[in-house]
Amino acid sequence: MRIAFLGLGRMGSGMATRLAQSGDHTLTVWNRTADKAQRFTELGASIAKDPIEAVRDAEVVITSLLDDQSVEALFHEGSEVLKALPPTAIHLCVTTISPDCANRLQDLHAANGSRYVSGPVIGRPDASAAGKLVQFLAGDTSAIKVVSPICHAFAEQVMPLSVRDAGVANSQKLCINFFVASLIEVMGECFTLGEKLGVPRQNLAFFLDKSLPLPGLKVYVERLFKRETDSTTGFTMTAGRKDLGLMLRAAAAVDCDIDIATIIAEKMDIAISQGMQNLDWSATQEITRQRAGLLN
Ligand SMILES: NC(=O)c1ccc[n+]([C@@H]2O[C@H](COP(=O)([O-])OP(=O)(O)OC[C@H]3O[C@@H](n4cnc5c(N)ncnc54)[C@H](OP(=O)(O)O)[C@@H]3O)[C@@H](O)[C@H]2O)c1
Repeated sequence: MRIAFLGLGRMGSGMATRLAQSGDHTLTVWNRTADKAQRFTELGASIAKDPIEAVRDAEVVITSLLDDQSVEALFHEGSEVLKALPPTAIHLCVTTISPDCANRLQDLHAANGSRYVSGPVIGRPDASAAGKLVQFLAGDTSAIKVVSPICHAFAEQVMPLSVRDAGVANSQKLCINFFVASLIEVMGECFTLGEKLGVPRQNLAFFLDKSLPLPGLKVYVERLFKRETDSTTGFTMTAGRKDLGLMLRAAAAVDCDIDIATIIAEKMDIAISQGMQNLDWSATQEITRQRAGLLN
């Protein structure tokens, strides 16, 4: 298929590489910061100078951008990108966006004659590059049939949801990220409490590691134990704070308290105010440590 891939960040670069390496598609890529696109010529992809050029001949457009704003800057009523999109094209959005934004995009494409699928993913950049993501799909049923085989290039589990609203896939992603963020918070507090009480950190790491079956969760035991905060292969504090905001807004809209999310968001705000915006989102443990008087 002719695929346009927009957004070559930590997650997008892995997915686009997998698509290029599959040899099954004609791939055109675009990234706001052009340098990140250069290496895709070696993989046989074309590099578009802007998103309008990227989508012009596409059958499927995949957006791996940051948030609601970055996706809707390209796809809104009357936008140049939407005008350039072939009428039968499918927009698959793998970005973590709000359920409301996903539903707006679904309506936008329906009015335009094109089709929309929400496809948020679970897994970190290493899983993206290894084709081991888990992905939820919701939206236009006929479009889901078309994009599912494409998604198998980067996701080992592709789960179509039998719901009408595309936003349900995004709600499911937010619920799972709420669980992961909460687990990170509890484990960071556990390590900090242990340290204050004189418990060897490795004893807690051993127990926490044994408690968690999934590699994607175990990685946080190791990160928190070693206090590894680099986000090059992870998820930035800025993006994590965006997700906490999405969770809190989605929960508030249905009158559901998710109290621990408020605590995590506050710690993230403090971390960001201290210049930690580009560290991994699990670096909130450093704020827990500071509050406990552990200053190194
Ligand atoms: N990292 C993870 O572990 C993970 C896991 C699951 C889902 N996600 C989700 O996947 C998405 C991408 O995350 P990531 O970790 O790949 O983030 P990232 O490395 O920061 O990449 C973000 C991408 O979005 C582009 N972008 C940001 N703002 C833009 C704007 N206003 N206009 C155009 N392009 C813009 C960036 O372009 P530039 O290169 O020019 O900055 C980059 O290509 C996010 O929604 C995130 O929540 C991440």
